[in-house]
Amino acid sequence: MTESPSAAHPETPTQDGNDPRCVPHKLTHPLPIGDECQYPNYSDEEQEVWKTLHARMETLLPGRAADEFITGLRALDLERDRIPALSDVSRKLRQATGWQICRTPGLLDAHDFFGYLARRVFPSTDYIRARSELDYTPAPDCFHDIFGHTPMIVHPRFADFYQKLGQAALNCKDAATEEGLTRIYWFTVEFGLITNPGGLRIYGNGIISSSGETQHCLTDKVTKLPYTPERLAAQAYDIWHFQNPVFVIESFDQLENEFVRWARERSLL
Ligand SMILES: [Fe+2]
Repeated sequence: MTESPSAAHPETPTQDGNDPRCVPHKLTHPLPIGDECQYPNYSDEEQEVWKTLHARMETLLPGRAADEFITGLRALDLERDRIPALSDVSRKLRQATGWQICRTPGLLDAHDFFGYLARRVFPSTDYIRARSELDYTPAPDCFHDIFGHTPMIVHPRFADFYQKLGQAALNCKDAATEEGLTRIYWFTVEFGLITNPGGLRIYGNGIISSSGETQHCLTDKVTKLPYTPERLAAQAYDIWHFQNPVFVIESFDQLENEFVRWARERSLL
């Protein structure tokens, strides 16, 4: 989510659907992975946008982001003044949890996206939003993907859970279960909260990559409910407003164990 409560989540297509970044790509050939990802020729202005976004979120994260997210961010040691190279981040992820990064030209077709997750490969964009879109971008960019998503993939249990989400999605045969799985993805990977020893914290990237949602979601205006996959799968979400309710896990062990139980009961794993 973004600064404006009426704005959409970065991965959500615009309401008029005209932005080419919002059209999912159906792949006809494999994407470059790891060291195959070339570093783009970014302009100074693009590097400045990264710098601005990074600095702004860094001040917001203490006391709000999950300990596990902060640990992942430190382990990746992402550059502050320069857009990180996908190949470098991929190498660090591989060392940590055996995940790699592939470079995607934009939103991927769901089957292609989950197929990569199932193989422990995270599709990341390498382009960055314009300065006019600091607070709102209709599609994922590399700040959303790299800064927001990759730190959690450093955590071994989250990394396993994320792979299993991909595997379960590939095995999904009916629309109702698929919808449930989409909601589980939404309320965990994108909008999940966790109870840390210091209190309630954010691990969902849809929140962490948005300064507005990061400041809003821990307030009393948002209802927090305990995580069970059944409850998430039954909860519709509104892509155009700040999330309410959100769901709280006790630990990443609980996140994965409960998800595996839910998926096995539906023969998805
Ligand atoms: Fe995302």
